[in-house]
Amino acid sequence: MYYLMDLPKIRSVVSDPSQPDGDRLVLLRVSDKADIPQEAQQFLEKEAKAVVDYKIDLDYDYWTAVLEDCLHVFLPEELREGAPVGFAMTGHIAHVNLNAEYLPYKHIIGQLILDKNKRVKTVVNKLDSIDTKFRFFKMELIAGEPNYVVEHHEADCRFTFDFTEVYWNSRLHTEHERLVQMFKPEEVVADVFAGVGPFAVPAAKKGCAVLGNDLNPNSAKYLAKNVKDNRVTDLVRVSCEDGRDFIRTCVSRVYDDPFPAYTGPKPSRMQEEKERKRLQKLAAEGHPIPPPNAAESTGPRRQRISHFVMNLPDSALTFLDAFRGILVDNERDLSGIYKEMPMVHCHCFTRELDPAKAEQDIRQVRIFVPQTAY
Ligand SMILES: C[S@@+](CC[C@H](N)C(=O)[O-])C[C@H]1O[C@@H](n2cnc3c(N)ncnc32)[C@H](O)[C@@H]1O
Repeated sequence: MYYLMDLPKIRSVVSDPSQPDGDRLVLLRVSDKADIPQEAQQFLEKEAKAVVDYKIDLDYDYWTAVLEDCLHVFLPEELREGAPVGFAMTGHIAHVNLNAEYLPYKHIIGQLILDKNKRVKTVVNKLDSIDTKFRFFKMELIAGEPNYVVEHHEADCRFTFDFTEVYWNSRLHTEHERLVQMFKPEEVVADVFAGVGPFAVPAAKKGCAVLGNDLNPNSAKYLAKNVKDNRVTDLVRVSCEDGRDFIRTCVSRVYDDPFPAYTGPKPSRMQEEKERKRLQKLAAEGHPIPPPNAAESTGPRRQRISHFVMNLPDSALTFLDAFRGILVDNERDLSGIYKEMPMVHCHCFTRELDPAKAEQDIRQVRIFVPQTAY
């Protein structure tokens, strides 16, 4: 057994190609007859009809998903260790972050990723620079189609966006999930730096009313599309303003133009389709069609913001002073409905790992309004 050919996806017993209905060949792990160890030779002399040569082509296609193996063939020896075998996926785009020494091989690396992964249609190398204002990554195409509009799925929602124009980071999905879990379905959420909607859309899907804002017109455009595609247009209001202006005005906006009351979880597409068919059948049989569910008009309309989300870690802290005085709008005092203050989820960076030291470090950056959470 020890001397048998043992390669993934290659059988060790095959038909003899020169006489397919005749003898079977047992493949050995040697490239030359002379390499057959003595012990095996003795066995073959006794048991085998003959020892013949058999050629196997392990070509490029054989190495299906084994990127590392393929890279080792193409890269010079000194670059093999630590070769960039990992990549992240956003929709159909695979993205890598190549160190300078691998840049001369970027197109080979890109082509290998493309060839070995069916879902990948485009491969980009993320450049070190990031758009300072809107935080999206600059990137260069290294293989595949120059198509950057992706459809990405997160939290049972469908997101479409141009990866070269807006911010998206798939690794934030646990943070998106963590916050959305904290929101109650009947609450109002104001997302100051909403991007294309990874907090706003899933929050609305669970019933929350949402103000989703982003200063990047492309983010606001795709946010509006994602709201529509996920069928939450009645629950999300999209705006494209500077975060500071948004914070200053959103409390009075929701007060003056409240969201409808929470009416329970949204039916799924399947449930809607089932209901449509039921009504169709009733009509076909000549029965009267019942009026649509009247739950919409019951319960108080939603006028009070419960959560602010501020995911712009680089500078969100510097927007906090905009909260001062937002409950007093000209001569109106809106604090009556804000007995319980909104929670402000403000993201920021710190190098400190110890929570106490981290808090101290963060507090040094700014003086906060009292309701701020980190
Ligand atoms: C780090 S991204 C977060 C996006 C989204 N919340 C997410 O989790 O993927 C920050 C967003 O803030 C937007 N932004 C940057 N400056 C802004 C400002 N002054 N006012 C409003 N939005 C801003 C950017 O366009 C970007 O979409």
